[in-house]
Amino acid sequence: MESSVISLTVPSAAELRGPFPSYHQPKEILSFSLDDERQVHYDDRGLSCYFPAPIGTCLFDRADTFKARDVTKNEHIDNILQALVHAKRSKTLPGFRQPQFVTFRGIMTKILYLPYNSREEWELGATRYNGTIYLEERLTERRLQEPFRNRQQKLLMYSGYRFETMSTVPVEPDQLSGADDPVVRDRSHLDTNNCAEFNSLFKTRLGKHSILMGAEVDCVSHGLHKKDRTDRYLELKTSRILTSRQGEENFERHKLLKFYLQSFLAGIPRIILGFRDDDGYLRQLQAFKTLEIPRLVRSKGFWEPVACFQFADRFLSWLTAHITVDDPTTSYTIRYTPQTKTVELIYLGHHENFLIPEFVSEFST
Ligand code: A3P
Ligand code: MG
Ligand code: MG
Repeated sequence: MESSVISLTVPSAAELRGPFPSYHQPKEILSFSLDDERQVHYDDRGLSCYFPAPIGTCLFDRADTFKARDVTKNEHIDNILQALVHAKRSKTLPGFRQPQFVTFRGIMTKILYLPYNSREEWELGATRYNGTIYLEERLTERRLQEPFRNRQQKLLMYSGYRFETMSTVPVEPDQLSGADDPVVRDRSHLDTNNCAEFNSLFKTRLGKHSILMGAEVDCVSHGLHKKDRTDRYLELKTSRILTSRQGEENFERHKLLKFYLQSFLAGIPRIILGFRDDDGYLRQLQAFKTLEIPRLVRSKGFWEPVACFQFADRFLSWLTAHITVDDPTTSYTIRYTPQTKTVELIYLGHHENFLIPEFVSEFST
């Protein structure tokens, strides 16, 4: 390495025009569930079906029973690595070839959002092993403060998860007698936690870069256990009701772009957005087709998806060119500073390496 720190300035969105780089339709290769104790199960017990929450539901209810995941416990990308070890040992992925990148969808969303990110700093960890680059989110001081944030922020975070509890059922919707069915009504007595999850692991390609991503999927519209269910995956979101021009602009400029990137990356075709008021009451539901979101705001000139994908394509090439040490016991830090719009790549040597030994030995050649 010529130097231990290399920088990249994120171009402005206006500089990132031209053709849309190719993005392959994501293909799920396996899925797994996490239970209330965050134990992994290689099945789909964590997946549920969408059944609309009634308008008027209070998303702040039962906040005192919220069982929040311990975010100070860094899970790295262990669940992805362990799933790959499991698949290899059980021979469920014949012909599987290591991609160029392995990461979580949330990290790719952060990368894609960079041309429009003038506020949020972040830090990733990277390790190269047998040619593949693994990316994880680093727990910065700021991230570690999150559990101690103020009551109002905690409540708003809770309301997002409460919306999921109140919008899903563990059975097929057509087996229910409607909104009065006990399964539907009894949701309001359930506690909400953010420990249990359903995760999809899928492969895709951005430009020349093959990527394997893990993504948490909120629910499916119906057909829980059918093979083609990825077409029916749904993303659930909440937002404050839009009552001012400024609120509306902020929603369209930033939130809608993030919703779009998050779902597009994983090939999730639809998003259900619940608008709540300041007292937590659900006031309106709106369904979006992911692919149609850019068109909804295009005339306003707030953002163009091509800028995000052009940048991400270049960024992955930049990482590939500069993350050269191929050694699972070493790592790099990738740090974004919004004030200067720069990304720094810092070689750490034998520090903060995060590939689990089990994975390293299973995939040693
Ligand atoms: P919203 O979706 O209503 O924002 P996701 O939507 O990605 O499935 O995440 C579910 C919920 O987790 C979010 O609800 C929000 O409450 C919470 N959440 C996710 N990422 C967060 C973050 N970076 N900071 C705070 N809360 C977050
Ligand atoms: Mg989710
Ligand atoms: Mg969601």
